[in-house]
Amino acid sequence: MRVLVTAGPTREAIDPVRFLSNRSSGRMGYAIAQALLAAGHEVVLVSGPVQITPPDGVLSVQVESALQMLDASLAAWPDCDAMFAVAAVADYRPKQVSEQKLKRQEGEGQFLELIPNPDIVATLAATKQQRLVIGFALESHHGLQHARAKMQRKCLDVVVLNGPEAQGAASSRMTILKSDGSQHDVGPLPKAELAVELVRYTLANGAD
Ligand code: CTP
Repeated sequence: MRVLVTAGPTREAIDPVRFLSNRSSGRMGYAIAQALLAAGHEVVLVSGPVQITPPDGVLSVQVESALQMLDASLAAWPDCDAMFAVAAVADYRPKQVSEQKLKRQEGEGQFLELIPNPDIVATLAATKQQRLVIGFALESHHGLQHARAKMQRKCLDVVVLNGPEAQGAASSRMTILKSDGSQHDVGPLPKAELAVELVRYTLANGAD
């Protein structure tokens, strides 16, 4: 199979030198790309800025913002058979990007108006037909309930539930929920091993 993976954070520009972003390391997405390759799949890795080198053999597309990640993902999607949405996409971006560096106004506060970013996985899932779409849910409370709601809302086949402690950690646990109602708990394990188990569990019938 040819599999699309989104990974890492996005950066939403405020002006030429500043941006909004988050703490995603990209580790889980890159581990999934590696596990997919090892299982014999082709991988298109669309990644925000991270400190990790893409595994040899993936088709790597480097992006910065959520809009760029959407464009790159939409371009890759027609030739892919499945998608793992692992990126921590910024939910909002500044409404206006200043062409010039914003200057400090002595003694005054600043308002930054934000507008919503598109939901990348939901956009692609809307045209998935028979293809498998796997999303992640990072939840701090009522995890199972929120993750199942996310699966329905975004039209996912599988959702992988993590707690906030997973962000940036080398090891973590995950709960894999499928749209048929099944639940599979894995870990704590190093992220590379979680990735191998996730690929095995979700794509069991398919390295062709
Ligand atoms: N996602 C995406 N595009 C976005 C936001 C999220 O593709 N603009 C994907 C993520 O890659 C992940 C899943 O959607 O697979 C869930 O992301 P999460 O941030 O947990 O969900 P949100 O939709 O942002 O919901 P909330 O912040 O309310 O939990």
